[in-house]
Amino acid sequence: MTVLEAMRSYMRRDQIFEFLIPDIPPDLDLTHGVILYLDGINVSFDGFKAINDLNLYIEDGELRCIIGPNGAGKTTMMDIITGKTRPDSGSAWFGQQINLLEMDEPEIAAAGIGRKFQKPTVFEQHAVTDNLELAMAGDKRVWATLNARLNGEQRDRIEEVLQIIGLENHSKNQAGSLSHGQKQWLEIGMLLMQNPKLLLVDEPAAGMTHQEMDRTAELLTSLAGTRSVIVVEHDMDFVRSIAGKVTVLHQGSVLAEGSMDEVQNDQRVIEVYLGE
Ligand SMILES: Nc1ncnc2c1ncn2[C@@H]1O[C@H](COP(=O)(O)OP(=O)(O)OP(=O)(O)O)[C@@H](O)[C@H]1O
Ligand SMILES: [Mg+2]
Repeated sequence: MTVLEAMRSYMRRDQIFEFLIPDIPPDLDLTHGVILYLDGINVSFDGFKAINDLNLYIEDGELRCIIGPNGAGKTTMMDIITGKTRPDSGSAWFGQQINLLEMDEPEIAAAGIGRKFQKPTVFEQHAVTDNLELAMAGDKRVWATLNARLNGEQRDRIEEVLQIIGLENHSKNQAGSLSHGQKQWLEIGMLLMQNPKLLLVDEPAAGMTHQEMDRTAELLTSLAGTRSVIVVEHDMDFVRSIAGKVTVLHQGSVLAEGSMDEVQNDQRVIEVYLGE
């Protein structure tokens, strides 16, 4: 039986078609060294302007922290980048060529933008390695070309990611038995299996012990460089421990941008956020 016959025996025709001709997005064009452009973005919810003429540029390989008071629009901004929320106006580009506003959530994920929500969503009943394997299977391109050689590569990739997230000694453990911090790292590992070029992480330090926070700061710092990382976080010690550049959002716009020292000494930032 050929591979195609085997697939036919358990799949519909359109599903086979999807597997064989996956939607491979255009290559990421980083000609100007900028991986994400948000220009003049506006979003209203029932007349309330959650995002107000937002402009944000993230460089290739950058680790950017986004801070700002509750309701500033930080999560909504991530919703726009990932296609969960459609802006009323403005533009959003991934590299030079990929127009995020013309894509849906799965297309944006496939193009190379990974997002980690605040609550870890690992498969609790499965071993740590199985979680990583399942995350990889989400990539149709892997399924489409599944063969022995790639299986070796896949195993190497799982080992590599286990090392990156520091769970190499927990690979056989059930994900449900991990600490809160370890689950967060596993979920970051699951995102890494898809090789995102841009990773969005919303409040990673919440609920973590100091030790876990230090380890998370190291992890996120190590991920930048080969990819870009945007971190939304309220814990200022954590932000200070990882940040290069910090953007302060307030009422849906950029209030200030610069080093942690610069924004911490900015009078407007102190008034609306840090002075709380
Ligand atoms: N789907 C929605 N419908 C209506 N209002 C919304 C929706 N999503 C967000 N908002 C409102 O938009 C504003 C921005 O919310 P957002 O969640 O982006 O803030 P945030 O900066 O992430 O805040 P926090 O620090 O508390 O997480 C808030 O006033 C929120 O109530
Ligand atoms: Mg939020």
